[in-house]
Amino acid sequence: MITVKDKTFVPFIGADTIEQRVAELAAQISTDYEGKNPLFIGVLNGSFIFAADLFKKVVIPAQITFIKLASYSATESTGTVEEVLGLNIDIANRHIVIVEDIVDTGLTMTELLKTLKEYQPLSVAVATLLHKPEAAKKKVELKYVGFPIDNKFVVGYGLDYDGYGRNLPSIYILSE
Ligand code: IMP
Repeated sequence: MITVKDKTFVPFIGADTIEQRVAELAAQISTDYEGKNPLFIGVLNGSFIFAADLFKKVVIPAQITFIKLASYSATESTGTVEEVLGLNIDIANRHIVIVEDIVDTGLTMTELLKTLKEYQPLSVAVATLLHKPEAAKKKVELKYVGFPIDNKFVVGYGLDYDGYGRNLPSIYILSE
């Protein structure tokens, strides 16, 4: 059991298990994108460790860049809109692999996909380390999923609780 800020968490997915699964995803992506010169786009902050570990294991020519999403409330009818910050590579006619830490409700990814498609990439796929299928409010096509998990809060390996816990080498789940 560990404490992050004011909450306790218990071990959930160990570092070795993560490493093995990340290697499998990288191998699959390397096969699928052979000869396609993919551009990986990591979504900051949460994906920075997963993106680095995944990218190190990709064995085909590929590029990586990072973006940040700024949430702001538009009108009441549209709800929260994500503005994409830092996209400074031309993604037109590129095969894009978005790298995300976790897809929870799917709202963030839905907005991001909508925005990226306006730049006319050749294709866009999503690689997420974690997915909470039960939390889905929007259906998002996820081509690469590390681990489907229950609808519970997790930290570690880049994921945070109020900014803390990102440096934990394995993933922990909120204790009951
Ligand atoms: P969504 O729009 O609900 O899919 O939210 C995605 C974002 O919420 C992720 O990129 C994370 O930053 C955050 N998030 C969702 N679930 C968790 C969790 O269990 N731990 C830490 N962050 C989470």
